[in-house]
Amino acid sequence: MAKTKANKEKSTDILALIEAEHRQVENLLAEAEKSKGAKLVEQFNKIYIAVILHARTEELVFYPALREYEETEQYVEEAEEEHEEVSFILEEIKALKPTNPEFKEKMLELKETLEHHVQEEESEIFNAVRECMSDKELTELGQEFQETKDKLVSNVEAALAM
Ligand SMILES: [Fe+2]
Ligand SMILES: [Fe+2]
Repeated sequence: MAKTKANKEKSTDILALIEAEHRQVENLLAEAEKSKGAKLVEQFNKIYIAVILHARTEELVFYPALREYEETEQYVEEAEEEHEEVSFILEEIKALKPTNPEFKEKMLELKETLEHHVQEEESEIFNAVRECMSDKELTELGQEFQETKDKLVSNVEAALAM
């Protein structure tokens, strides 16, 4: 019983969850670089869902928590702007055929924009978070992150189909 609880708490630290999702998206992007045609579209669809789901969940759970502390609130505005930029690029790519040369160009733009954003989250933002939030809070936020994400899945899948 106690062991199960400990495992659960460990796996729900919000920073660990966010980091794992960043790595997952990086892997999907690397896979997409090697793909073309229908396979490229399939990879793009996976990226679209993973990134939008991640960004929306951060906006609902992580960023509001950042706003609660003096050490972290300064990062929210820029991070939200970067999410908007990423969403915009995703919609642009979604409208393109995989045979259009612009598809790969936009994928590169997406990759660079994400790299910059992820780097900022994992360095400055995470460092500031560790200064002000307790382990308990990070675990609670992790649970909330997971629950919120689960609820958003069907909406994001519907957005891809639109
Ligand atoms: Fe983010
Ligand atoms: Fe993130």
